[in-house]
Amino acid sequence: RKILADDLPDAQVIVVSNREPYIHNIKGNGVELLVPASGLVSALEPITRACSGTWIAYGGGTADRLMVDENDRVQVPPGNPSYALRRVWLTEEEHQGYYLGFANEGLWPLCHIAFTRPVFRASDWEAYEAVNRKFADTVVAEARNERPIVLVQDYHFALLPRMIRERLPEAIVITFWHIPWPNSEVYSICPWRERILEGLLGSSIIGFHTQFHANNFTESVDRFLESRIERADAAISYGGQTTLVHAYPISIEWPAELLAKLPDVDQCRGRVRDRFELPADVKLCVGVERLDYTKGILDRFHALDELFTRHPEWIGKLVFLQIAAPSRGTLPAYRQLHDECHRYAEELNQRFGSEGYKPVIMVAEHHSQEQVYEIYRAADIGMVTSLHDGMNLVAKEFVAARDDEQGVLLLSTFAGASRELLEALIVNPYDAAMMSEALQQALIMSPDEQRERMRPMREMVRNNNVYRWAGSMLLDAARLRKRGDLDRVTG
Ligand code: G6P
Repeated sequence: RKILADDLPDAQVIVVSNREPYIHNIKGNGVELLVPASGLVSALEPITRACSGTWIAYGGGTADRLMVDENDRVQVPPGNPSYALRRVWLTEEEHQGYYLGFANEGLWPLCHIAFTRPVFRASDWEAYEAVNRKFADTVVAEARNERPIVLVQDYHFALLPRMIRERLPEAIVITFWHIPWPNSEVYSICPWRERILEGLLGSSIIGFHTQFHANNFTESVDRFLESRIERADAAISYGGQTTLVHAYPISIEWPAELLAKLPDVDQCRGRVRDRFELPADVKLCVGVERLDYTKGILDRFHALDELFTRHPEWIGKLVFLQIAAPSRGTLPAYRQLHDECHRYAEELNQRFGSEGYKPVIMVAEHHSQEQVYEIYRAADIGMVTSLHDGMNLVAKEFVAARDDEQGVLLLSTFAGASRELLEALIVNPYDAAMMSEALQQALIMSPDEQRERMRPMREMVRNNNVYRWAGSMLLDAARLRKRGDLDRVTG
């Protein structure tokens, strides 16, 4: 807020994402409010609140249309409104082609090393382009003047930055790509690779979680577009526009208020143990994510299988709780994963379970932020072992939740978070033997060592919170604007 007031006075902040921060759904005779499971939403929501901005997103809830005013806006958060959520409506075909098709069957597997083949269809591309245009129209309609700051979020909107630039040439467009960017050879698979790069280079700034992904992006531009790349300045000039390409590691809002509201760790343990009917003396290991093939859920089950084989003393003494929020469930790859996870969990329970003891509990349901934090606080071990992840905010939430400085984090080396949470037990999710040994190490770790590891990780997340993330992008944007204004004055 201070940066906006001091460095970007009167600038209107407009956030654009596919996923909306609050979803209204019809439930029975009433309306239920849902905060979706999305790292993007957890990060951007506090920022938009602090800026009193406008958030433009797809209105996908079954009651979303009932809750908006005549301009398709609803003031949120409910109960304490501080910004306007402007909903964009999509037809079934648009949603199918743009979101399920191009974004989630094309770009998502293209950008993640998870060995799921991307599917590219011309009809999906057309829908993607049309929906990006629809959002560009909405940004223009919502802009109060010629110079808004537009924060474009993620792989759903690769074409949007240029569309905005064409219609609001003086806007600052900051695009953040929340997922990895592949190397240029993998990227070359995409039939519309040049168009996507051109679209993104309409941005003033493009942000990635890690320098590695920023470099991959620059290499892709170098290979497929005629552009000028100033590596020392991390700048790309293309078609008369210069774009900064930087790493800005995303984070969370430090959950001080939430922690103050939650019961203490012992009570959380009691509640979670009651809810899942856990035997009194078992250790609890948890995984919390969307049911997605990039998250390595099956690999986690393999590691558990391996642990029970190598260290059978843990049979009867360890329960693995997997919270898997339903996601993109109409796509074949997600349906298949759902079935495989349930099948493997069932198999493990048959092989290692006994009367009153189920080693794997899988809950494929949405959980609120309070419920998730309660589970983090109840756990002895948090497993964040994605096959590939831009950042992964669950890892940061887990350490933030542990004000008792206890609990062990197992973290994939392929999640951006492993570059920052150095005291976690860093694992390769493809290596079941290594993961099972890391589990063993976590299970026998002394409370002192847990504290020594947890303390610096909590410090890191507290200091590098999401306001710092947004602040550094806004500061860079303010510098760009000042330089542009000075250049204009001096001709
Ligand atoms: C990832 C993406 C976000 C997305 C979230 C949830 O974190 O980077 O853009 O919102 O997954 O996926 P969904 O498709 O349910 O929005």
